[in-house]
Amino acid sequence: MIFESHAHYDDEAFDADREALLLSLRERGIGTVLNIGASLSGSEATVKLAEQYPFLYGAVGVHPSEIGELNEESFARLHALCAHEKVVAVGETGLDYHYPEPEAALQKEWFERQLMLARETKLPVIIHSREAAKDTLDLMKALHAEEIGGVVHCFSYGKEMAREYLAMDFYFGIGGVITFQNAKKLKEAVTYIPMEKILLETDSPYLAPQPHRGERNTSLNLPYVVEAIAELKGISREEVEKVTEENARRLFRLQ
Ligand code: NI
Repeated sequence: MIFESHAHYDDEAFDADREALLLSLRERGIGTVLNIGASLSGSEATVKLAEQYPFLYGAVGVHPSEIGELNEESFARLHALCAHEKVVAVGETGLDYHYPEPEAALQKEWFERQLMLARETKLPVIIHSREAAKDTLDLMKALHAEEIGGVVHCFSYGKEMAREYLAMDFYFGIGGVITFQNAKKLKEAVTYIPMEKILLETDSPYLAPQPHRGERNTSLNLPYVVEAIAELKGISREEVEKVTEENARRLFRLQ
């Protein structure tokens, strides 16, 4: 069954139908969900969801846009959440230079702290990198991220960057963007990346694939992503589902 490696079901976009939606996933082919914390409250909510649903696991972290809320006290709380039995990764964390704030130096500081947290707690890391390719890579190399391991979520760079992350033995989260007509560079990268390094993800409620672009996204849209990858790789949809699930279980140690 499909392993959804990146969703935000704690988001208010799901307040009206969260329970019904989550309970409908398995019968529609989505076997496992990794819910991703993007803030402190989101990380707390992620752990609550993981306690409530047996098929749902959590990652705890603070997205680069939200790091203003981090200080020693709140970071200690994040650290404590890592010990929860259903928390399988640190993240999402990284760098996002799309907006001028928070300033880059501060983003780098808390990205570094979260990478070190992943190392200390022996958890893989979920990387968010937007318009910050070089700085993300430089910092990851400096901190020997190849010893930590993890996934570059919503990978949106080209083949050259893919080569760099492959050298660090990282995985690549591929989602709705692969179905967009203008995603030429990403399609080239996915053709190049070995199937054994690809994870399926949605980033729900964001980034819905064609033909639902612009709508609220859910894991139920993953078959569109599966189909796009199957076409690029020249393999069956079943094979895409099977291999990406094996990949996710290997990375998040859910054998
Ligand atoms: Ni996300």
